[in-house]
Amino acid sequence: MSEPTTLTTRGGDLFARLSRIIAERGEDTTPGAVADGPSPDEPGHPEYHHRQRVLSALGRFDAACPPRYTGATTDHPGVLAWADQVAASPTTAPSLLLWGNTGTGKTHAAYAAIRRIALSGPHRFGFIGSTFPDLFAALRPGAGDGLERERRMRRIMTIPLLLLDDLGTASDSVWTEEITYRIVNHRDTHMLPTVFTSNIPPGGLAQVCDDRIASRLLGMTVRYHFDGPDRRTT
Ligand SMILES: Nc1ncnc2c1ncn2[C@@H]1O[C@H](COP(=O)(O)OP(=O)(O)OP(=O)(O)O)[C@@H](O)[C@H]1O
Ligand SMILES: [Mg+2]
Repeated sequence: MSEPTTLTTRGGDLFARLSRIIAERGEDTTPGAVADGPSPDEPGHPEYHHRQRVLSALGRFDAACPPRYTGATTDHPGVLAWADQVAASPTTAPSLLLWGNTGTGKTHAAYAAIRRIALSGPHRFGFIGSTFPDLFAALRPGAGDGLERERRMRRIMTIPLLLLDDLGTASDSVWTEEITYRIVNHRDTHMLPTVFTSNIPPGGLAQVCDDRIASRLLGMTVRYHFDGPDRRTT
């Protein structure tokens, strides 16, 4: 067995010879960055994780969206700006109220806004979309036991994104006002972004809702008027 000193010396010789050969060939041996990080297709790369978040959010959006509106897009500047604000800062963004005559594209724009948020690849995406009449039907006494109804109610109150369509179309009662108040008040006080659509102008809300509800709706939303012909019939 050779002595360790001999091995070191021989290793040193070998290194010197290799260095000489490389130098003679004019090879550039300057140390550079080693590309050993993940590629965009691999876990660990920010693009990979962004893509996964988009896919997950879009899957949830599609599952909660009526087929008519699944691919909805909008070019409404106010609606686009609102969606981008929610995507950038969901805890400080306001809610949104789209109002106007029937068939002018309010519901379409509302789903388009939520879809745009999904496409931004949010870290947390939970969404429920419902009309007010369907909401009341799901929560009315007799629709499941009390605990189950309260569980549904809590889910609607606390979901990160909520779309409530057709405000003011369901017939009024003390019970529907109380349900609406609880939801609107919770969403307002917890600053949870909510989209409302309505045929009723903001100035007329106090005539169709309890004052406490109208006041909160006006305080928590940015509002856009949808005008023009009924797109269903033109
Ligand atoms: N920007 C758009 N591009 C393509 N289709 C649209 C657009 N906006 C609305 N539509 C279509 O027009 C029809 C009416 O739109 P929408 O349902 O959004 O109306 P609305 O204002 O919500 O009406 P209502 O007050 O009766 O609920 C729908 O079939 C919708 O898909
Ligand atoms: Mg609608």
